[in-house]
Amino acid sequence: MIDNKSIVLTGASSGIGFEVLKLLARGKGNRILAVARHVDNIKYFADNVTAFACDISTKEGVDRVFAKAEELFGKIDLFYANAGFPYYEEFNYEDWDRVDAMFRTNTISPIYTYAKYIRHLDGRPGILAYTVSAIGEMAMPGYAIYSSSKFALNGFQQAIRLEKPENLQITCLYPVATDTNFFKVANAVEFEKPFPVQKPSHVARKMIEGIEQGREKVSPCGLFGFAKVLMGVAPPVRTVYWKLETAKLERFKKKLSVYHERVHEDVKAAVEKGREVREEIGEKAEKVREEIGEKAHEVREEIKDKFHGI
Ligand SMILES: NC(=O)c1ccc[n+]([C@@H]2O[C@H](COP(=O)([O-])OP(=O)(O)OC[C@H]3O[C@@H](n4cnc5c(N)ncnc54)[C@H](OP(=O)(O)O)[C@@H]3O)[C@@H](O)[C@H]2O)c1
Repeated sequence: MIDNKSIVLTGASSGIGFEVLKLLARGKGNRILAVARHVDNIKYFADNVTAFACDISTKEGVDRVFAKAEELFGKIDLFYANAGFPYYEEFNYEDWDRVDAMFRTNTISPIYTYAKYIRHLDGRPGILAYTVSAIGEMAMPGYAIYSSSKFALNGFQQAIRLEKPENLQITCLYPVATDTNFFKVANAVEFEKPFPVQKPSHVARKMIEGIEQGREKVSPCGLFGFAKVLMGVAPPVRTVYWKLETAKLERFKKKLSVYHERVHEDVKAAVEKGREVREEIGEKAEKVREEIGEKAHEVREEIKDKFHGI
């Protein structure tokens, strides 16, 4: 078990991070700064956990996390950069900001974290952990932007190992599909998850073991490890796997177009209803105006009669 450590964990409020938080909080003498943008569910998690609401997708956000951790602990023994998110989609749009948002969270933030952590350690030993992804090693249809953001992080961790101080351990996690909020975030419309799917508690346990054992790489799914070897010696296996996953994307695209048609119909119906209501209000207003006019005319006639001759 990881004990007596000062720890920063990002993406601690949900999924894999939340399960990692549960395990770390049990470690004797551990103190944890648990980071996410929304921390209501971890505010009172345990006495040794400080929840910190912060967006790590910006330089200022990461700087704030380091400042808070240094204020609380002095030295950070373990920094686990776990926060990240996916898109599941057909990449068929020109939207710089959408791509930029993903790379800022999934790639640039953990890279900048490395630089900050090295400066923070200043020669002292430390542990940096990253949640990469199996999709950061083998691309998948529907995940072009996500995949590339994690491939980039994977390339970074590979290269930086050749430069890093010897007393810095870097442990990277490569989960396959894991049953978390990840898939809700990926698209508003439900879609089929890639095969296989694991529980976040299993993935978190494997990662904690990997950190304890000083491993460089943790792949929590044995089946995927085996499949990768198989695909290496028999590439047609990968082609078949990709075909199956591409068929899922095709089904999703159909579902999405039905969803868009329905939204389009709903919007059209709402606009039509709005027009009807406006017409109804217009007609009523016209009637009221006429009634007021008639009433005013009657009152004027009455006044004329009453005061006639005065
Ligand atoms: N689930 C999978 O199938 C799978 C597979 C491979 C890799 N992964 C990776 O595993 C990591 C954890 O994902 P998960 O599956 O546990 O998903 P999750 O349940 O959606 O958890 C994501 C966590 O990251 C936080 N987060 C997201 N953006 C953030 C930001 N800008 N600033 C601070 N915190 C942020 C979220 O909290 P807030 O929204 O409140 O900020 C949440 O705590 C990610 O890096 C993901 O790419 C997941």
